[in-house]
Amino acid sequence: MCGIVGYIGDKRAYPILIKGLSRLEYRGYDSAGVALLEPGEDIKVYKRQGKVIDLTEFVNGSSTSGTIGIGHTRWATHGLPNDVNAHPHSSGDGKITLVHNGIIENYAILKKELVNRGRVFKSETDTEVLVHLIEDVKSKSGVSLVEAVRIALNRVHGAYAIVVISSDDPNKIIAAKKSSPLVIGMGEDEYYLASDATPIVEYTKNVVYLEDEQIAIIDRHNGLRIISIGNQEVSPYVQELEMQLEELEKGGYEHFMLKEIYEQPHAIKDSFRGRLNAKEGWVSLGGIKDYEEQIAKSDRIIIIACGTSWHAALVAEYYFEDLARIPVEVEYASEFRYRNPIIRKNDVVIAISQSGETADTLAALKMAKEQGATLIGIVNVVGSTISRVTDAGSYTHAGPEIGVASTKAFTTQLVLLAMMALSLGKRRGTITDEKFSLLLNELEALPMKIEKLLESDSYIKGVSAIYKDARNALYLGRGTSFPIALEGALKLKEISYIHAEGYPAAEMKHGPIALIDENMPVFVIATQGENYVKVVSNIQEVKARKGKLIAIVTKGDTTVREMADHVIEIPMSHEFVVPILATIPFQLISYHIAVMRNCNVDQPRNLAKSVTVE
Ligand code: M6R
Repeated sequence: MCGIVGYIGDKRAYPILIKGLSRLEYRGYDSAGVALLEPGEDIKVYKRQGKVIDLTEFVNGSSTSGTIGIGHTRWATHGLPNDVNAHPHSSGDGKITLVHNGIIENYAILKKELVNRGRVFKSETDTEVLVHLIEDVKSKSGVSLVEAVRIALNRVHGAYAIVVISSDDPNKIIAAKKSSPLVIGMGEDEYYLASDATPIVEYTKNVVYLEDEQIAIIDRHNGLRIISIGNQEVSPYVQELEMQLEELEKGGYEHFMLKEIYEQPHAIKDSFRGRLNAKEGWVSLGGIKDYEEQIAKSDRIIIIACGTSWHAALVAEYYFEDLARIPVEVEYASEFRYRNPIIRKNDVVIAISQSGETADTLAALKMAKEQGATLIGIVNVVGSTISRVTDAGSYTHAGPEIGVASTKAFTTQLVLLAMMALSLGKRRGTITDEKFSLLLNELEALPMKIEKLLESDSYIKGVSAIYKDARNALYLGRGTSFPIALEGALKLKEISYIHAEGYPAAEMKHGPIALIDENMPVFVIATQGENYVKVVSNIQEVKARKGKLIAIVTKGDTTVREMADHVIEIPMSHEFVVPILATIPFQLISYHIAVMRNCNVDQPRNLAKSVTVE
């Protein structure tokens, strides 16, 4: 949460910072700000409540000179989202200015100490403590800015990625990180800093991912140097970015979310590339190959994740237990990390995360590591923290997902987990050759089937229009469709602000059925498969209470069609891939309803794409 950028070089920093902040806006959009520095001048700070566009309107007409700059787009943790609490924050004398992503947990104690020493605070943020602390250390000890940052960070508990500038040291940028991400782009005599690589990719493909408790000192004349907060020299490890600039544009779609829904056939193909061949009858995940034997022999797999990724974990539980016969436990990372769980050496912990930066997932992984578990990551963002702290892992290869609502990241997580379960099942001999081959073919046919399904978009839009004013909605499914019901409900509530609940269809009569009346839309997955007859009974129960029924059915279904108010057909498929297909209509329904309700689809209120605070 929160996006930070920085620039030092020969160019004007302001346009680079603004473009970078727009790319990072998915990380938070309560307020935005920049600080600009030109040697010999004072630092200019502009900040504003609202989005990056509001900041640019505010700045319009003011001086934006400066070849060094830092910027921030905020998701408020401490203090209201107003102009004063917006970053950057400056020291009392205005000479040091910084931006911060993370939470300073001991800020209250530090603030008290600093106030007692006469430092005057302007904002309610935890961040402001950092800049006063650096100023305090510097003035008290007479040390350099870098040393003052280092000493200050040694006093701080919590998470931070910071970028600091000072008018007394006008040819330097200092950056540091712990538990919040920070990437440094290495150009020709210029450097870019950002919370992820998206603001950097159009200038350079050479990047350094700063590690925890490292401080980067970037000097206009002497280049990049990295030290640890213990003051040890570190050699920068330069990597090449794979990301393409076009992946970050809307490409003619009205919203990123719609683009990302439509990208799914392609994204799933990318997930399969080099990993699956149904004709030749093999599936192989290179990233975890060396650990597969260990996973296959593990006593238990624990899957940890948050939000949509947690829904993918629930589907994976069915996949792994059914196909590979390995016991699986699925945990919310935020609960797992705080409940003193039993983790044994022979447990494998799989973390699923689009961003690879989710604070709770990361903390849960670290805890599992300390207790000796093997860690596997299923991550989308290449080079992200989770991909680096795990022992091994596989990227979903969905490409950058900019819309806050997860779409293609989710379906590619599902295909990756399905491949993993098939591979483990084959290795353990818990799946027959016929079934293995059948399911490989089912997976490989998915991109084509999703293309077909997307052709129903205008019909789905029509159905969505009927329910756009609903105040509540129920989503029902059984088996692997239950997590999809949860995901459908999450998608609707997060972008259209309609209250929605997902339930296992049979659980409905243990409570939620009391809610059903003629105003309640009930979305149900009623595709052909083992649970079909049971779901049909649940549908009858809904109809008997006059609920409005929108059913996802297998193409050609007539039974449910007679009972439902609307049916959305998915192509005939094995139930193994139904969760992936059934997700698509739910994504489209949420999208259309949100657009019809004039909601900000790509940046829903109060949310951020990357939840880097617990
Ligand atoms: O990046 P992660 O997958 O770890 O994020 C976890 C959740 O914050 C995320 O899945 C969230 O629920 C979705 N953006 C909702 O669509």
